Amino acid sequence: MNLRFEAKDGTAQVEGASIFFPDVRDAKCGLRVALRRCRRRLGAGERRRLAMRACARARAVVGRARRIGAYLPHGSELDPQWLMRRLERAGHDIYVPLVGRRSDQVLRFTPWRAPFLTNRYGIREPRRGHTIKASELDLIIVPVVGFDARGTRLGQGGGHYDRTLAHLGRAGLRPRRVGLAFECQRVASLPRDRHDVPLTAVVTENRVYRGFGSA
Ligand SMILES: Nc1ncnc2c1ncn2[C@@H]1O[C@H](COP(=O)(O)OP(=O)(O)OP(=O)(O)O)[C@@H](O)[C@H]1O
Ligand SMILES: [Mg+2]
Repeated sequence: MNLRFEAKDGTAQVEGASIFFPDVRDAKCGLRVALRRCRRRLGAGERRRLAMRACARARAVVGRARRIGAYLPHGSELDPQWLMRRLERAGHDIYVPLVGRRSDQVLRFTPWRAPFLTNRYGIREPRRGHTIKASELDLIIVPVVGFDARGTRLGQGGGHYDRTLAHLGRAGLRPRRVGLAFECQRVASLPRDRHDVPLTAVVTENRVYRGFGSA
């Protein structure tokens, strides 16, 4: 999507229009609306087709990672389940996040194949059982609302992934963070807060973006 956020003056250029945001929080909210709209506009059939292509491409990025965190898609998010099934068949251990009732709002991860329930956000997740911490994962596949040329990730706005990965610091290595996104979610630049944990790579239907560094 044609979108660029200028941190110095708080303006974003969205599809040619210049919008002023008083602070980063407002900017993130406004950009989420625009980016979700572009993702929905693809339509369900096209999203399915593009998701398969992104999943096929992501297989190589995963490499030998043994314990892999992934997610069950919500709304118009890219559906990673084709990739999850393929990785499972190849012997990788697949985990999904549990939001649960933790007051620190840090995600725990549970084996994908545990029985399901619907959590308070309306998202399906496995019943509480044996859970592990993000630091025990080798790689985590994360949903993306938007991403930019520096690997900045715009998520759903709960800060869940940022809190969960806060142990990494800026130059952290494990788990590697791989975003799955449609090409229309790629933008020139996004606002980045100090707490925002950057992505290691992003896979879209067209290509793999990596080498963002920790800038
Ligand atoms: N490490 C952290 N410690 C405390 N609060 C945090 C941390 N990371 C994020 N937050 C809080 O979460 C809020 C939302 O963060 P942000 O706007 O970056 O969400 P997001 O990355 O889009 O969401 P998500 O990770 O859930 O997809 C922030 O305003 C901040 O208050
Ligand atoms: Mg964030």
